[in-house]
Amino acid sequence: MQMKRKTQPSSEHTEQVERVIVRPNGPLEGEVAIGGAKNSVLKLMAATTLAEGRHVLHNVPRISDVGWMGELLEAMGARVEWVGPHDLAIETPEDLVPEAPYELVEKMRASIVVLGPLLARFGRARVALPGGDDFGPRPVDMHLRALESLGATIDFAHGYIEARARRLRGQRIVFEFPSVGATENALMAAVLAEGRTEIDNAAREPEIADLVRFLNRMGAQVSGAGSSTLVIEGVDRLHSVEHTLIPDRIEAATFMVAVGIAGGEVTLQGARADHMDILIQKLGDMGMRISPSSEGIWVMATKQLKSVDIQTLPFPGLATDYKPFLVAALTVADGVSIVTENIFSGRFRYIDELVRMGADIRTESHHAVIRGRPMLSGAQVRAHDIRAGVAVALAGLKAEGETVVSDAFHIDRGYEDFVEKFKSLGADMDRK
Ligand code: UD1
Repeated sequence: MQMKRKTQPSSEHTEQVERVIVRPNGPLEGEVAIGGAKNSVLKLMAATTLAEGRHVLHNVPRISDVGWMGELLEAMGARVEWVGPHDLAIETPEDLVPEAPYELVEKMRASIVVLGPLLARFGRARVALPGGDDFGPRPVDMHLRALESLGATIDFAHGYIEARARRLRGQRIVFEFPSVGATENALMAAVLAEGRTEIDNAAREPEIADLVRFLNRMGAQVSGAGSSTLVIEGVDRLHSVEHTLIPDRIEAATFMVAVGIAGGEVTLQGARADHMDILIQKLGDMGMRISPSSEGIWVMATKQLKSVDIQTLPFPGLATDYKPFLVAALTVADGVSIVTENIFSGRFRYIDELVRMGADIRTESHHAVIRGRPMLSGAQVRAHDIRAGVAVALAGLKAEGETVVSDAFHIDRGYEDFVEKFKSLGADMDRK
């Protein structure tokens, strides 16, 4: 799959951008278009393996993770091509090689979501076991247990998960934790299983509701999207479809928090406030003004933010992906804040980078105590993952001098035109 095409917008996402450079430059002003959701498109692309034919996805962000998922589908035998600036066509043949090689799974852990659909359609699937990442181990035990309850046999050999089943059978699955990936894998397996599946304690993220809409459009029978119980009546066949993705709430959160840090007034075009209720409440408590508008979401900040306590929780709680941005904002807020991480145990590494910028943060187990100060001090820092890289770039909006974020290619995994969008709002940001 070619990421660079004539129809592509200005920036070139295949290039591994080395550094993002940020200098404070006053309030952000203007309008910014929010793209389609990364955490939705990757799962919808996996779901296209469920049915033969030409699928077309609209509002697809030009980010490197989409490129990797496209390569994975092509390695299996699908054809993936851009047919418009944000329109992706995927041609799924009757037969695919139901296998996800290590080289691709290693680049993007989300590839594990091909396991359920491949197993359901082809009766077997071989997917490399994902390793750990910068926020600690990410087990897949819940994914596998759910597939086993649908009748799959799971083996491990040479670093691969090997799953088999003649035909999956509907079952009641109860998750011990509402895992996003495990819910998606179980759901995509159950749509082609024989009989009825009930998934209890299912994840409720908007991206899962988007996946349910996509599957139902393909002919699946799933109800309960957005609630903790999904009920799936298995069908024999699905067909190819067209679908428009929901907006990326994490990209929207990035610009909201950026306005909180730098001040200003910005409209997030296409963003959906109803996907971000708790974040909007928290930013309101911090002194920002945010309201839905006909175009998307309007955001304003006129003075230094106030401290708040936050904890991450499964949706509709505060998303763990927002947390690095909020921690960056709290380092320049007035007062002391306590931040608690309940989803990923090790998701605090970027804090060392913020401390290099003069932030006053202490961590104890999964808590961080942050004493805000008026301004940070620009420094050379590293992006450990997508959101961590963004957090330090946001901190740079209120750090005296220059902040230089290395390994900034991580940012391009999840953001299209990150620097260009910030520049259009008046930020002093560059890539080198
Ligand atoms: C997805 C999102 C990620 C987000 C996360 C939580 C994508 C591509 N990624 O990741 O951005 O931060 O949801 O909202 O959509 N766990 C187990 N066993 C399992 C599965 C998960 O113990 O089998 C644990 C994980 O280690 C973690 C927690 O459950 O502590 C949540 O993980 P999960 O919801 O599965 O996150 P992902 O789907 O990996």
